[in-house]
Amino acid sequence: MSFLTTENVHKRYALGHVTVDALRGVDLVIGRGERVFLGGPSGSGKSTLLHLLGGLDAPSSGCVTLDGQDLAAIDDARLSDFRARHIGFVFQNFNLMPVLTAVENVEYPLQLLGERRRTAAARAMLEAVGLGAQADQYPNELSGGQQQRVAIARALVHRPALLIADEPTAALDSTTGAQVLELMLALSRDTGTTLVVCTHDRELLARAERRVLMRDGRIEHDSGALPAQAANHAAAAALPESA
Ligand SMILES: Nc1ncnc2c1ncn2[C@@H]1O[C@H](COP(=O)(O)OP(=O)(O)OP(=O)(O)O)[C@@H](O)[C@H]1O
Ligand SMILES: [Mg+2]
Repeated sequence: MSFLTTENVHKRYALGHVTVDALRGVDLVIGRGERVFLGGPSGSGKSTLLHLLGGLDAPSSGCVTLDGQDLAAIDDARLSDFRARHIGFVFQNFNLMPVLTAVENVEYPLQLLGERRRTAAARAMLEAVGLGAQADQYPNELSGGQQQRVAIARALVHRPALLIADEPTAALDSTTGAQVLELMLALSRDTGTTLVVCTHDRELLARAERRVLMRDGRIEHDSGALPAQAANHAAAAALPESA
């Protein structure tokens, strides 16, 4: 049932004398195969939360679990292997390696995992994102939308259980962005991959199967929260700041 969870997660960044409370008690339960969209104003903690969900960073307090595994209980060396096996990431700026062709970029995660028959898998994944004909082109020979599709292929080629995307459409025009998002949703449905995407796009949020809105480091609204969680959020919102 609960595939990805956070329990009373706090994240505090220290910048010299200044501290920033980026997350201030986040409780979230995401089921396997769910597609969750994260919205909220700039600075509300969306990227911070995605980083914690993907094990790229650790909470200051509270607990993040993926498939029953407490991420904080995995030591650093094993955590990067765990991420490489089970999680795919897509970022706003594609982050492709410019000296590698599209297919070499997509092969890369498989190479890290020591898998054989990488090229066939990478080409098949590029076909799945509609870029079979561009497999041997370099990123700078591709449009922004095509580059992001390569990045999606790279994020999914090892069949991760979880795909995390931080504003994957922000660098694209709205039509291309919508196409890229539809592609991610379709691939997630086909493969059963759980998807957590953050976006500023109100239209996308409005159409989302499940919408989680953040404000000031807390969940302000969760369209898919179980009744108990919804009550917790309402209670947390009602608490005075000092409580
Ligand atoms: N590495 C960091 N060091 C210090 N403060 C940080 C760091 N990362 C984020 N913050 C702060 O934490 C808060 C939440 O940032 P976060 O990036 O999670 O917001 P966001 O909702 O993703 O915003 P945006 O929509 O602009 O991407 C902000 O006040 C930000 O300045
Ligand atoms: Mg962000």
